[in-house]
Amino acid sequence: MHYKTLLPLAVLVGSTIVLLRVVASIAGEPDAANYVGPRMCGACHKKDDTGNQFKLWQESQHAKAFERLATPEAKEAGKKVGVDNPQTSGKCLKCHATAYNFTESAATQKIKPEDGVTCESCHGPGKNYLKKDVMENREQAVAGGLIYPASKNCERCHNSEAPSWKPDRFTTKDGKKVGFDYEQAYEKIKHPNPKLKP
Ligand code: HEC
Ligand code: HEC
Ligand code: HEC
Ligand code: HEC
Repeated sequence: MHYKTLLPLAVLVGSTIVLLRVVASIAGEPDAANYVGPRMCGACHKKDDTGNQFKLWQESQHAKAFERLATPEAKEAGKKVGVDNPQTSGKCLKCHATAYNFTESAATQKIKPEDGVTCESCHGPGKNYLKKDVMENREQAVAGGLIYPASKNCERCHNSEAPSWKPDRFTTKDGKKVGFDYEQAYEKIKHPNPKLKP
């Protein structure tokens, strides 16, 4: 075949792949109607003998991601992209607040922007998996929307779109410089249940 007849075909195949990707990413968007807020999770996950995930989260940077947007360095970062007040701009809140669900406008009232990055940004909206008997069965929990493993989600926010992104923030075991290294980042945020085998 002559290349002139192949060219439109290549364009068609190319654009179909792009289209499929767009459709897939929309289908994979967590459903904002199913958020319940971190206190609902905390109702069961705040006992010390099972790891008090609620307390560890509250002490983490993720819980402070909204406050962070009021700092002078945040204002400075905002100015560069035409944002006056980072705490009211979707351009920042899409990653700094679960309430925005990775979008530029508030997607749920069940979580306040003040709560920052909550459980459900990583584990998925909880409405259909938070019953005790469902939670105890991973297969059922995943069917109800639990994202497992939660590592799937980190790079939706930890990427080069963040004004704070430093492509050499982490050094991997084999000496490579990367902007995000799951293993090292996980060590800083982990909240395991000591009663379960690792
Ligand atoms: C009614 C009590 C209850 C509520 C509410 C609840 N959980 Fe759980 N959850 C459990 C129990 C029980 C387990 C199983 C033992 C464990 O891992 O702690 C569990 C397990 C988990 C696990 C581990 C799943 C696995 O297969 O390894 C995650 C993650 C989790 N919960 C997140 C959440 C999040 C996020 C919320 C809020 C949206 C939530 N839970 C709300 C009781 C609850
Ligand atoms: C694509 C997601 C994303 C967007 C959009 C985003 N941030 Fe962030 N922000 C992050 C992440 C992730 C971190 C944690 C540090 C890192 O790994 O880059 C962070 C950290 C920060 C910090 C702490 C500084 C540091 O180096 O740790 C400030 C300040 C900040 N962001 C301000 C802003 C402002 C202001 C906006 C809007 C103009 C914004 N961010 C938009 C993801 C984002
Ligand atoms: C920044 C993302 C992130 C946030 C926020 C977060 N988690 Fe997790 N969580 C993880 C990761 C990663 C794991 C390891 C297992 C996995 O990959 O799913 C985990 C594990 C767990 C487990 C299982 C513990 C075990 O040993 O099996 C529970 C229970 C849990 N999280 C509950 C919560 C609750 C409740 C909140 C909010 C109060 C929360 N998490 C907030 C990322 C997160
Ligand atoms: C919804 C967006 C979002 C998701 C998803 C997310 N993060 Fe973050 N993360 C942030 C933001 C924003 C900050 C900055 C918080 C601050 O300092 O104000 C941050 C900060 C951190 C920090 C502290 C900064 C540092 O470099 O020491 C670690 C560690 C971290 N995240 C690990 C993770 C891991 C591991 C996952 C996946 C399991 C994850 N994050 C998922 C938005 C997110």
